[in-house]
Amino acid sequence: MAAQPKDSPVILITGASSGIGAELARQLARGAAKEGRTARLALAARREDRLNALAEELRRDCGADVLVHAADMTQPSHVAVLVDSVKSHFGRIDVLVNNAGVLKMAPFLDMPIGDMQYLVNVNFWGPLHAIRAAAPVMAEQGGGRIVQVASGVARRGLPFMAVYAATKAALSCFTESLRMELGAQGIDFTIVYPGGVDTEMPASVDRASLPDTYHDHAELRIPAARAARAIRKALKCGALEVYVPWWVRWASWLSVICPSAADFLIRRSYGKSLNK
Ligand SMILES: NC(=O)c1ccc[n+]([C@@H]2O[C@H](COP(=O)([O-])OP(=O)(O)OC[C@H]3O[C@@H](n4cnc5c(N)ncnc54)[C@H](OP(=O)(O)O)[C@@H]3O)[C@@H](O)[C@H]2O)c1
Repeated sequence: MAAQPKDSPVILITGASSGIGAELARQLARGAAKEGRTARLALAARREDRLNALAEELRRDCGADVLVHAADMTQPSHVAVLVDSVKSHFGRIDVLVNNAGVLKMAPFLDMPIGDMQYLVNVNFWGPLHAIRAAAPVMAEQGGGRIVQVASGVARRGLPFMAVYAATKAALSCFTESLRMELGAQGIDFTIVYPGGVDTEMPASVDRASLPDTYHDHAELRIPAARAARAIRKALKCGALEVYVPWWVRWASWLSVICPSAADFLIRRSYGKSLNK
């Protein structure tokens, strides 16, 4: 009798309605189809229409088993229902990709406190709620992996994104602690540190709140597909950390080894936008 194809892991991706999350879902579904498996994906975000369109595409093109669930990750009750629905549909959760995030940019002293709270709520509390809900499910089934999509600015803050950078640094530190604590229950963690990625996120930044001379460094952005590929590869090999593109790792090391050189280079590249 022919060998049965191995079951695909059940992967819950938050922020799957666009950008890196949507691209990761596509790559996982295609990869499973190529290997003769059925991808088992749960897609979460607030824009349900986008999730449904993506789910249709993945079912049609790759035969994936896709669950769509609209949820606002800042609401613990939404997150609890999301995790319950994934568990009841698939019976387990092997991987949680905490990818949902938002970016707001402005000089620190000009940013409304509400925007700062929003950044913290989505980028830090969102993954925290998701882990509180999903980790017990993983522990009960004997293990799992949690992927935290942070940012290169978690390792080296940049101008006009002080609070965003702080949310991602908090996420990174929080994850390092959990890796030790929850590792004993078979739960592994991967932290992803992307540089600029060409998605709706940088495109939606309100330029009016930034200095006229601010240069957005769009030339350094990578396509979402490249960031998603790096995450997929990390899932396969169980990497602890992923820096994408590669130079983000070197930039973060430079910042640790010689912070004054990092300051110098950043000041130079932000030029006049840092003048009073
Ligand atoms: N793009 C970059 O340059 C860059 C660089 C480093 C790190 N990252 C990180 O990569 C991750 C993905 O970002 P992206 O670049 O792919 O941006 P994106 O295209 O704007 O995607 C962000 C996703 O997060 C979801 N989301 C936002 N707020 C949410 C909430 N309250 N509840 C549930 N879902 C929410 C959005 O869906 P809905 O609006 O439908 O809810 C969307 O699916 C983020 O964590 C981001 O911080 C991005």
